[in-house]
Amino acid sequence: MDNLIELSKKMPKTELHLHIEGTFEPEQMFAIAQRNNVKLKYSTVDALKAAYQFTNLQDFLDLYYQGMSVLLHEADFYDLTMAYLEKVNSENVVHVEIFFDPQGHLSRGVSFDVQIRGIYNALQDAEKKWGMTSKLIMSFLRHLSEESAFDTLEQAKPYLSWIDGVGLDSSEVGHPPEKFLRVFEACKKLGLKVTAHAGEEGPPEYVWQAIDQIGVDRIDHGNRALEDDKLIDTIKERNLTLTVCPLSNLKLCVVNDMKDHPIRSMLKLGLNATVNSDDPAYFGGYMNDNYTSLINDTGISKEELFQLAKNGITGSWMEEHHKEQHLKQLNSLFA
Ligand code: ADE
Ligand code: ZN
Repeated sequence: MDNLIELSKKMPKTELHLHIEGTFEPEQMFAIAQRNNVKLKYSTVDALKAAYQFTNLQDFLDLYYQGMSVLLHEADFYDLTMAYLEKVNSENVVHVEIFFDPQGHLSRGVSFDVQIRGIYNALQDAEKKWGMTSKLIMSFLRHLSEESAFDTLEQAKPYLSWIDGVGLDSSEVGHPPEKFLRVFEACKKLGLKVTAHAGEEGPPEYVWQAIDQIGVDRIDHGNRALEDDKLIDTIKERNLTLTVCPLSNLKLCVVNDMKDHPIRSMLKLGLNATVNSDDPAYFGGYMNDNYTSLINDTGISKEELFQLAKNGITGSWMEEHHKEQHLKQLNSLFA
């Protein structure tokens, strides 16, 4: 088991499901709150950390939106992003695809320009420093209206050359993908890739909608797709990647015990499952912690570990020559 953990730390990894606002470590949150003169609801780092006990997605989202409220300036977005990139660079993550939630900041008077400039500059600097490649995904908050999503897309238009795709996140149940059908159609016409959170808490029907109506390129989470055999076949036929988030699933009670995590079943069914951290500052771990947890608790084999890492490369939106380079490195490490 220790050998597998070592291997998982060394292997080249991609992160395809990561909310940059979910990387906000309490220490950094307090530091930025102080420099911006913003008061947090919790008076100490420990008090805040103690509140990270969630029974469902909404419990977490309430704290997540509170936390991001201290981000005001371009430097705040830069520092947040750079702290995450430094962390995962030390874990041999070679490529990241990052979500940001513009509406969570626009609603507080923070301009699109301020947000994206800070995030984008950090991504560029990571590529210069370490050769780490990236894609940026603008995510729509599904608890808000279609009109708000369209308005956000308008604000994004001057920055489309920095944005690779769009996503759909926040409170899933009651906000099915079809609510945003027309927005996603407009995004696709602009040449953006499309992904959506589906089947985290929501029913298989939402995964069907993401595939059949929205025409997603990828599915974020997808756990509940396993309840529907026909849906499993469709995901396989379309060769869709699932961005699975083990520690997130545990913290948000999508699974009750890591031993019961369905990721090995997904692989056995032939689904392109990948490992990702979602909101690592809130869920107790970054990429390596997610792999370690799977190795310790689910008994994944060396072959399965290899398959997960390989799926992360092939299911990413990175350039083909980069995929080939990372696959070669992965193959030689596992040889
Ligand atoms: N926003 C940040 N993390 C999320 C998650 N796991 N599900 C839905 N929305 C999110
Ligand atoms: Zn997510």
